[in-house]
Amino acid sequence: MGKINIAIDGPASSGKSTVAKILANDLGYIYTDTGAMYRSITYLALKHHISFSDEKKLTELIERYPISFQSTTKGQLVICDGEDITDKIREVAVTNNVSEVSAFSKVRKKLVQQQQEIAKFGGVVMDGRDIGTVVLPEAEVKIFLVASATERAKRRFKENLGKGIQEDFDVLKKEIEQRDYLDSNRQDSPLKQAEDAILIDTTGMTISEVVTAIKKVIDQKR
Ligand code: DC
Repeated sequence: MGKINIAIDGPASSGKSTVAKILANDLGYIYTDTGAMYRSITYLALKHHISFSDEKKLTELIERYPISFQSTTKGQLVICDGEDITDKIREVAVTNNVSEVSAFSKVRKKLVQQQQEIAKFGGVVMDGRDIGTVVLPEAEVKIFLVASATERAKRRFKENLGKGIQEDFDVLKKEIEQRDYLDSNRQDSPLKQAEDAILIDTTGMTISEVVTAIKKVIDQKR
C-alpha cells in the first residue's frame, strides 16, 4: 500500500502537533506544521518592522525568506533566513498576532502552494486549520480535534511552565478563545471541520489515547 496523506485540523492547543508528530514518527512519514509557517511570517514581520495589515509586504516576505523544516535529534527545527526560529515563533508577540497575518488571502495562497508541494507524493502528516478543507481535500485520512477552551488553556499553561514561562491562566484562556474566534470567522479558509473528517473530542483523553484513536482510523484506510 502506498503512502497516504493525513490531515489533522482543529483549534489552538487542541493537541494537533503533539499527536501529529507521534503519528509521523511511528509511520515513518513527514510531519508538516503549517501553523509554524504562518507564525514564521508573523515573526519576520516583527523582525523587519512590517505592519500586520500590509498584505503586499507580508506576502513579499514569503518570497524573500523561504521557510524550511530540518529534522534533528532535538526534533524538527524551523529555519528561516539562516536563523533557527523554532522557539521564537512560539513567543507571545507572534502568537497574539498570527491570526491577523494568516487571514490574508495572498499570504494563504502562497503558503498553501508550498504545503501542497510538500504533500504531493503522500506520506505526510500535516496539521493546521484548513488542511482537510482546502490544502489537501483529497487526503485519505482527515481528523478534526477539539477540546474545551478550559482544557486547552490548562495544557498550554502546563506547557509554558515547562518552558519557564508563567502567564496568567485566565489571560491564556482569553487569548485562546480570541484566536479561535478570529480563525473560525475569517473569510478565507476559516477553521472548519471537513465533511468527511472524523471528529475527536480530546477533553479528558491522554495523548496516547488520541494517537490510538487516530491509528484506528488510519488502519481502516490503508
Ligand atoms: O497551529 P498554530 O496555533 O501554531 O497556528 C498558528 C496560527 O496560524 C493560527 O492561529 C491560525 C493560523 N493557521 C492557519 O490559518 N492555517 C493553518 N493551516 C495553520 C495555522
